[in-house]
Amino acid sequence: MPPADPTRRARVSRRAFLVGGAAAGAVAVAGAGGAWAGRATAPATGAASSGTAGALALHGDLRVPFHGPRQAGVETPPQAYLTLVALNLAPGTDRDALVRLMRIWTDDVVRLTEGRPGLTDTEPELAEVPARLTVTVGYGPAVFTAAGLDDRRPAWLGPLPAFAVDRLEDRWNDGDLVLQVCADDEVTVSHAVRMLLREARDFASVRWLQKGFRRSVGSEPAGRTMRNLMGQIDGTRNLDPVADAPLVWSDGTDGWLAGGTSMVVRRIRMELDTWDEVDRSTREAVMGRRLADGAPLTGEKEHDEPDLEAVGPHGLTVIGPAAHVRRARTSDPAERFLRRAYSYDDAPDVATDPGALSSSGLVFVTFQADVDRQFVPVQRRLDEVDLLNEWTTPIGSAVFAVPPGCAEGEFLGQALLG
Ligand code: HEM
Repeated sequence: MPPADPTRRARVSRRAFLVGGAAAGAVAVAGAGGAWAGRATAPATGAASSGTAGALALHGDLRVPFHGPRQAGVETPPQAYLTLVALNLAPGTDRDALVRLMRIWTDDVVRLTEGRPGLTDTEPELAEVPARLTVTVGYGPAVFTAAGLDDRRPAWLGPLPAFAVDRLEDRWNDGDLVLQVCADDEVTVSHAVRMLLREARDFASVRWLQKGFRRSVGSEPAGRTMRNLMGQIDGTRNLDPVADAPLVWSDGTDGWLAGGTSMVVRRIRMELDTWDEVDRSTREAVMGRRLADGAPLTGEKEHDEPDLEAVGPHGLTVIGPAAHVRRARTSDPAERFLRRAYSYDDAPDVATDPGALSSSGLVFVTFQADVDRQFVPVQRRLDEVDLLNEWTTPIGSAVFAVPPGCAEGEFLGQALLG
């Protein structure tokens, strides 16, 4: 037997302390509000509070409440992993069938977000780590037709107008239903998605599935703005889902949608192989912000207001006329929306593009009360002029109506289908 190492114990507990400290910090920030209002709660008892294993288990135990007037997964601070699945309704799925599906999904989501197995879970152990799991359900236009409720369909629900930059591939477009499943653990996401799809088999089939990721929990302090795969700090100027709630949530003008919202999904490929050829100062000019810290080219810190009038030594504006942040900005405060994007990084498609190194981009998800009023004008402006268009290509597009949340005993979509 090797001799006992008297320093080992001290080293382990110091590491446990550091890990525990970092994780505890994350919990506090996630729950502290700021731009993203945290709704995660830790259970009163359990491993979260005890010893090394407890410290490591901390974020796996966190739960985001499911019940409430609004669905979770919109104002929830973004978790590390996303799977978005769009489904096609099976022929013959009518209003009664939709109600049955919504009841089944509601029951499953309640259980899974509480760390309990679904009713017919064949791998119940996989449900034990909720890790801030949220499932957000949305409806495409076909739900309204199938339910005989076309008169209740919001005017903005349908494909976005065509944009010149679009190179849409049908395999990433549209959908009758959508499930946005997010958690801080990818196994949790995978299990929840499989469970919900299996339960839906008689009603609907998968149309497309998109996976996304952000930094893992604990890799950097919680609350930091994400970096996308172009290396940019992305999400600095975003809606505050609490302070800007009227821009995110429907006020009920559409009746049943009060407390609901809309979800736009754009799959945007990044041309990283040509982006590699661009020097750093050009990259910063494309955006109008610095790469190191996300500060505007006219400022010092990430959250400084860009000065769009500031002029440089050659008489040109420091933030150029076609820079992304200038073009994406608006003088109309109502033309704003909540961005909740994730990176994707697929295998390069070497069969059709020999020599390609990557197939990466953003699963660009936005939430807004009204797509036509808020999202479309901004996308239109970017379509007209935006330096970033040289290195980004929208390849998928879909719009969904996200019904309000539900109270205990109710089911998702009850305000529409019930
Ligand atoms: C792959 C595509 C895209 C990338 C890499 C990207 C990246 C960025 C970055 C780095 C910023 C600056 C930091 C920030 O304020 O978040 C930004 C800002 C912004 N982007 Fe994008 N973006 C993309 C596509 C889009 C699209 C399609 C839209 C809208 C249709 C959009 C709307 C905005 C808005 C509204 C802002 C904030 C502008 C402001 O008020 O300062 N972006 N984007």
